[in-house]
Amino acid sequence: MSKALDGIRVIDFTHDQAGPACTQTLAWLGADVIKIERPPNGDRARKLWYSDRADIDSYFFLLLNSNKRSVVLNLKTDEGKEIARRLIREADVVAENLGPGAMERLGLGYEAVKKLNPRAIYASIKGFGSYGPYSDFKCFEMIAQATSGGMSLTGFPDRPPVVTGVNVGDAGTGMHLTIAILAALVQRQRTGRGQLVEVAMQEAVLNITRVKFTPTLTNGRPLERMGNRSASGAYADLVRCAGGGPNDYVYLMLPPDNAEPFEALVDAIGRQDVRSDERFSTPPARARHSDDLTAVIEGWTMKHDKHEVMRALASRGIPCGAVLDTAEVLRDPHLRERGTVFDLEHPTRGRFSMIGCPLRLSDSPIETSRAPLFGEHTEDVLTTLAGYTADEVRRLRDTGVV
Ligand SMILES: CC(C)(COP(=O)(O)OP(=O)(O)OC[C@H]1O[C@@H](n2cnc3c(N)ncnc32)[C@H](O)[C@@H]1OP(=O)(O)O)[C@@H](O)C(=O)NCCC(=O)NCCS
Repeated sequence: MSKALDGIRVIDFTHDQAGPACTQTLAWLGADVIKIERPPNGDRARKLWYSDRADIDSYFFLLLNSNKRSVVLNLKTDEGKEIARRLIREADVVAENLGPGAMERLGLGYEAVKKLNPRAIYASIKGFGSYGPYSDFKCFEMIAQATSGGMSLTGFPDRPPVVTGVNVGDAGTGMHLTIAILAALVQRQRTGRGQLVEVAMQEAVLNITRVKFTPTLTNGRPLERMGNRSASGAYADLVRCAGGGPNDYVYLMLPPDNAEPFEALVDAIGRQDVRSDERFSTPPARARHSDDLTAVIEGWTMKHDKHEVMRALASRGIPCGAVLDTAEVLRDPHLRERGTVFDLEHPTRGRFSMIGCPLRLSDSPIETSRAPLFGEHTEDVLTTLAGYTADEVRRLRDTGVV
């Protein structure tokens, strides 16, 4: 069966997380993604975070670079630049997230690529975009969270701001870039032209955070951190469960405009008596007396483990979820049954738990193939796409170009 992006070729100069998250999604959707990596070690993500063994790729890299091909190319040599130009001429998309000005210094910025291939979509991530007072600044995940308002809202009101564990700054920006690329590909079908698409990390996180600006727009004051409470005015809290471990909790939320989950909750926990309690008589009253209501609920939840609590309450229509730690997520039966988490073979890592694509398209099957080894496809790509012979590739290898 064909795939949505069959026939789309991406020359991928991205590294770390934000850019690779985007190009991995394009690859899942069927694009041929050719990852360009610098000698001698390639994308630094290959050695990033819990690199338990220096000689093989980190799981960080394997999680972000499935379904791609890898080509080694020293872009600081004239021949390396020439190879890049040849590949760009064959590209539908050129993607990058190097530091500000780095692609231009290599002679591979948007204007240069447009001259080489006017049909190419040039997709770029920067921390703060290509213009504006911060545009020369480098950026990582937490910096995007800090400068978007997101970090100021995360944590408890009496403690400093906290970074969220969800990678909205990196992967969130990558997903925004994916949307921009897909839109540009659709537009190109009508115009025949490529274009520059860019996403700034600060703005991607701002976009995801936008509804939290509602109170500020209403009263002009910055919104305070709310810990685990909901900004909607509904009762919402983290309730303790049996076990007492660091993640033995269930998060529970009662909608502000529907009394049924509250009714179901008091039945489930055998506390029908609280129906007549003034503190819990309306959704706003429940939200005002959250601590008291949490104590009532914990009287029951602390006798059961979080999985039992989730099953018992969620099956009665009460919105709630167990706080699963990362090890529990990797063996979660629901995610395993849906094929989102599955075992994948890798030549040096062996079998490991891979997190697959969350998109489901009924006419474009999504399969995950392992991330490429460093330079695994250099010869193949140079001989089939860039017009080099195997002998020439050997010479380029001997001179450190590839
Ligand atoms: C993430 C970031 C802060 C890392 O900064 P850094 O480690 O200083 O790396 P940079 O991307 O700025 O620089 C990469 C250098 O490698 C060089 N390089 C990259 N690929 C190369 C290749 N194949 N061959 C030779 N050189 C290469 C670049 O030319 C650049 O050199 P220069 O500084 O002399 O111009 C920076 O890339 C950045 O701000 N990116 C945009 C925002 C972003 O995506 N952040 C999140 C990343 S998860």
